Amino acid sequence: MDSNNKKRYTITAALPYANGPLHIGHIAGAYLPADTFVRFLRMKEEDVVFVCGSDEHGAAITIKARKEGVSPQQIIDKFHELNKDTFKEFGIAFDIYHRTSAKIHHETSQDFFTVLNDKGEFDIIESEQYYDEEAEQFLADRYITGTCPKCGNENAYGDQCESCGSSLSPTDLINPKSTLTGSEPILKKTKHWYLPMQNHEGWIKKWIEEGILDNKQHHNPEEWKKHVLGQCKSWIDGGLQARAMTRDLDWGIKVPLEEAKGKVLYVWLDAPIGYISATKEWANMNGKNWEDYWKSEDAKLIHFIGKDNIVFHCIINPIILKSYGNGFVLPDNVPANEFLNLEGNKLSTSRNWAVWLHEYLKEFPGKQDVLRYVLTTIAPENKDSEFTWKDYQAKNNSELVAILGNFVNRTMVLTHKYFNGEVPVRGELVKYDQDVVNMVAEIPEKIENLIRQYKFRDALAEAMQLARIGNKYLADTEPWKLFAQDPDIVKTIMNICLQITANLGVILQPFLPDTAEKIQFMLGMKNVKWNLAGKMDILFPYDKLGRTELLFDKIEDSVVEQQVKKLEKAKLASIPATPAKEAVSFDDFTKMDIRTGTILHAEKVAKTKKLLKLKVDTGIDTRTIVSGIAEFFKPEEIIGLQVSVLVNLAPREIKGITSQGMILMAEDRDGSLSFMTPRKKVNNGSVVR
Ligand code: 2FM
Ligand code: ZN
Repeated sequence: MDSNNKKRYTITAALPYANGPLHIGHIAGAYLPADTFVRFLRMKEEDVVFVCGSDEHGAAITIKARKEGVSPQQIIDKFHELNKDTFKEFGIAFDIYHRTSAKIHHETSQDFFTVLNDKGEFDIIESEQYYDEEAEQFLADRYITGTCPKCGNENAYGDQCESCGSSLSPTDLINPKSTLTGSEPILKKTKHWYLPMQNHEGWIKKWIEEGILDNKQHHNPEEWKKHVLGQCKSWIDGGLQARAMTRDLDWGIKVPLEEAKGKVLYVWLDAPIGYISATKEWANMNGKNWEDYWKSEDAKLIHFIGKDNIVFHCIINPIILKSYGNGFVLPDNVPANEFLNLEGNKLSTSRNWAVWLHEYLKEFPGKQDVLRYVLTTIAPENKDSEFTWKDYQAKNNSELVAILGNFVNRTMVLTHKYFNGEVPVRGELVKYDQDVVNMVAEIPEKIENLIRQYKFRDALAEAMQLARIGNKYLADTEPWKLFAQDPDIVKTIMNICLQITANLGVILQPFLPDTAEKIQFMLGMKNVKWNLAGKMDILFPYDKLGRTELLFDKIEDSVVEQQVKKLEKAKLASIPATPAKEAVSFDDFTKMDIRTGTILHAEKVAKTKKLLKLKVDTGIDTRTIVSGIAEFFKPEEIIGLQVSVLVNLAPREIKGITSQGMILMAEDRDGSLSFMTPRKKVNNGSVVR
């Protein structure tokens, strides 16, 4: 290839907030497609840098710290390490996983502020903003919630409504409420530095809608996803407004001005600049020049993000980069994904409705490629999509095991059996062989085109097509029936199967790196480049094969059922306890006579589902109590159990039985019951108080 045509790729993946672990929604949204793209480019021997890191500022962090009663520093240190390790283990191969607390990042962000400020790019405006008197803090972004004026969602944040995606200002909210104290905020004067985005409307509109920048064709907008363009257009058509680039907070990057004491940079004048500072750090460590990746004409900047970050990457950040001047490139594309749902519901960190990646890696060791496979096949590339454990199991069992694994395994086993583990010589091809060879030859280009259009779902389907072709070829030619009469034909068949397997070892690399590496290892290949794909001479006659290894194994029903149970359980645990009842006096409380007692006898009450008739030794007497616990306990398993009994409850007639008291039970969120049994055995009749 003419090296003059080579591009330099600067690939960024959204910096995740270091306030919690990563779940499959994050992965499917940004990191997996980014990683697949980068791995492909590396195989094409392109010049590429892949940057990411922790976003350690912003209200998401401070709010979490406050809620847990720890410092923001403790939160970010914990989750930076966890997320960094998790990405690595999952095979997301960043060139650097940086952090926004790094000195070089503070300097870079402050430089952006200073340059823009010196150029007069900000409007300095004093205005009235919401202030929480109890917490003594101004309420920006996520510190304030209220009703979205556009869609009516009652839990919209001060900066954005997550329901309809609208970008908001705190003063847009109806019925604003402080998330710190729940109180109604007052308005108070404060001064901030605003980016007057309306002044940039002319060029940004032309750039987004036509791909034209400074009178030149910058990119082809046809290549951008429709939903990305749609969000941008509706934002621009709604009228761009000035947006404050500073905040009254004590956690973040200090505004580098004497007169702005106590203020920090808005997280969106911080996080996306993190891509640049990460590149600087990587360049310093690797003897590169960061400016080649951000300022040269041939640098292609591509942002992988989720749909909630579209306007920041397509409008606000380009305005900042262009206002800074000095040759910064604007994104060539922003292939944002939509959202992934889980088992019929939105993924939610607060409701614990998520598959956490670090837990998956622990519970499914060595199966990172199974999840990579499933998440790519259901990637929400153009609309929201859904992950279910049943589908995960089905894709593993009937695609990875039955097609890919099966083909590779049969090819290896037959070659070892017939040819002592050596690649046999390929003889004359019959028409069917030739057809198969031709089909294989076409696949890599199809995959390449799809990857370059960010259609990873379709690209992976093409790669699997190769395994399907191989599987069918083997089933149709049935070499095991031919070997006795015609070993030469079998040599040809197995040579072709091995070449297809070698091709799989190449083209699966961007999608399933661990599997591709195993295949390469089995065939004695290493680090192959993309230009070999599609060929029938990746392996040479008499090449010695390595040991056969199973690529995938079947996942049983019980395994996925347990995952669904785990989700349900986590969801229940996240339901808040029922609110407290009205206060009672101490005297009222002491009127209750609660004692320990032992269940002597238990039987079902005839013709009822829920009732058990118990005989209980209360220490005072032996009495009959009817209790609604039959759905949860069998009579025989509770005999002899010591429990807590309300003994002075007035007797009640239940199903013709006089019940004298009540057994105390704890009722869990799912309605299940548990006895209040003393930790150590005590005498019956002991007072509970
Ligand atoms: O939304 C988020 O997760 C933020 N931490 C920002 C990510 S994109 C950024 F890095 F520019
Ligand atoms: Zn809304």
